[in-house]
Amino acid sequence: MKKIPIIIDCDPGVDDTAALLLASQIPELDIRAITTVAGNVGVDKTTANAKRVRKIIGADFPIYQGAEKPMFRDLVTAAEFHGADGFGGVELPIPDDKLPEEKAWDAMYRIAKECEGELVIIAVAPMTNIGLALAKYKDFPNLVKKFVIMGGAAVGGNATPAAEFNIYVDPEAADMLFCCGVPVHMCGLDVTMKCYITPEELETINGFGSVQAKLFHDVLQKCMEKYMQSGNKGIALHDPAAVLYTVCPEMFQGEKAGVRVETKGIRTLGKTVTDLYSDKQFDEQNTFIVTDVDREAFIQKVYELMKKYEIA
Ligand code: RIB
Ligand code: CA
Repeated sequence: MKKIPIIIDCDPGVDDTAALLLASQIPELDIRAITTVAGNVGVDKTTANAKRVRKIIGADFPIYQGAEKPMFRDLVTAAEFHGADGFGGVELPIPDDKLPEEKAWDAMYRIAKECEGELVIIAVAPMTNIGLALAKYKDFPNLVKKFVIMGGAAVGGNATPAAEFNIYVDPEAADMLFCCGVPVHMCGLDVTMKCYITPEELETINGFGSVQAKLFHDVLQKCMEKYMQSGNKGIALHDPAAVLYTVCPEMFQGEKAGVRVETKGIRTLGKTVTDLYSDKQFDEQNTFIVTDVDREAFIQKVYELMKKYEIA
């Protein structure tokens, strides 16, 4: 089987943690690196959480630390949702293994060259590292096969009524990603809110008995309560949706559209402006916007992958 070389750019983060647990069990994926960025919490904490997850998975993929703030703005975090340490209140020691000095954006460029145009970057966080790589390396877009992002929304927002968090935190970097010419597949709120897991389904995963299944459950549990209090049927697995879309696109539906990011608005800052539902179209249909999912199939895939972890 020809593996897909990927980098997961993330800000663990409770759903990022779930995404890493799932990605590590997908045989089609060749995880060349995990890159971290400030987003849900500060980059020191997102990086520490990436180390924690790597230890629990028992993986050896390299971790490269990235940007500590957006390209042109102050950092806005989501600690109120992900917990002060970004790990949903789960207590796990931080492994003391030393990380490479190489910065995330430099590692992205180097690995893209090594993969000779086959690299897929799954970006499930503010896109600051990608923006910096684009700014520093003019030929970077020629080296990336595609971006699969968790970010944006054709309709709605969760950071503001108009903007989804990953885009809102660094709208300039996000707009650079959409404009750079690399094909973009956007798993925005339109589909990720449909990729929810119910409390009962999360308990089923906990019952699989491995430490990894327990972490998947524990890290999401606190946020589950918040989702249920606001009338949802479960917690949206935002970042796992982008990972599963990468390997099981047949579970999803969407269509091509033009997307640009609002970087100047007051009420609309960070909005992914799309022509999906507009008569007036952008000149370029630069993005495949994912809008729907077979949720049952999605959850069964999550079960299948999490069952692969062995009980110690
Ligand atoms: O809007 C959801 C996104 O913001 C997810 O990537 C979550 O981890 C947060 O970063
Ligand atoms: Ca994230």
